[in-house]
Amino acid sequence: MNHVRIIGTGSKAPDKVLSNHDLEKMVETSDEWITARTGIKERRIAEDGIASSDMGYDASLKALEASGTDPSELDVIIVGTVTPDYMMPSTGCLIQSKLKAKNAYGFDLAAGCSGFLYALHVGYGLIKAGTAKKILVVGTETLSRIMDYEDRSTCILFGDGAGAVVLSESEEPGIMSSCLNADGDDWELLYIPGGGSKIPASKESIENKDHYMKMNGRDVFRIAVKSMEAATMQAVEEAGIKPEDIDLLIPHQANFRILEAVRKRLNLPEDRLFSNLDKYGNTSAASVPLALDEAVRSGRAKKGDILLFTVFGGGFTWGATVVRL
Ligand code: ACO
Repeated sequence: MNHVRIIGTGSKAPDKVLSNHDLEKMVETSDEWITARTGIKERRIAEDGIASSDMGYDASLKALEASGTDPSELDVIIVGTVTPDYMMPSTGCLIQSKLKAKNAYGFDLAAGCSGFLYALHVGYGLIKAGTAKKILVVGTETLSRIMDYEDRSTCILFGDGAGAVVLSESEEPGIMSSCLNADGDDWELLYIPGGGSKIPASKESIENKDHYMKMNGRDVFRIAVKSMEAATMQAVEEAGIKPEDIDLLIPHQANFRILEAVRKRLNLPEDRLFSNLDKYGNTSAASVPLALDEAVRSGRAKKGDILLFTVFGGGFTWGATVVRL
């Protein structure tokens, strides 16, 4: 039992749709501009009162059902998110409670949009080390709550949603390589200034819109392409495969031009790239597991396929994982 496999996937997207045409009424933009520059047509927005743990719970139930796992079998719950319900307790504890997963400990992992792959890496390591047998890994985000809907350079990109996988020890190969990277030098290019210990929530910080995401899109774009390309090549090499062995590339759904750059770097045909960016936009840590679940449930990703995930996010953080499904 020295392998670690994904044995089930699940996802949840809110019903409420915010289309490019809706955004045209909110900021100075156009469906044509957003479509051409990003590939996004619409994104989902959580209803009032619905938080990251609620969507994460729904996605987790589906992943548990798909894998035939009872919540009591879980040893750990790891949640990648930049939009936890609260600063304390962790979303991991809230999901543990909702699932009644009484034998699991839970925690959150903040790595920006790379949160899911970071969480997958930690879960993989815990199982490899023999300290856990079954782990629920969740990516869930309510980014609409940290969006400035007067800032057209960010609000057109992001949406809400959740995805989850059950990781298990296995006799069959699963995760073949997992490479993570970080560089904190450029943290100010993508961050949320307020609400932490540096600029605590106050009347003034709220008036300054400090609790909204700030991003220098042009620089982030350039660094994201370079980093994701490098990470994918590293993960392919460490997995001992060739790029052409990849059956499906599932990148962080940030911008279609970034996805295309990674696909071209790997020299993969168009039909080996999975994208649902047009429907959901960028859902940060939820992006890869939401796309993975859709790929699995639609039959695009099948048992035995080799998948490549690659991510990039605030920090900066980035990485790539090769998985045999
Ligand atoms: N509608 C219309 N015009 C706009 C909009 C908009 N929504 N936003 C910006 N513009 C304008 C700009 O003001 C600028 O006008 P100017 O030339 O008169 O100054 C022009 O369009 C071009 O702006 P750029 O910022 O250069 O546009 P770019 O082609 O870089 O696209 C975008 C902007 C879409 C944000 C792009 O930079 C991007 O996708 N960056 C990466 C963002 C990303 O993926 N972040 C997340 C990664 S990490 C994570 O997921 C958190």
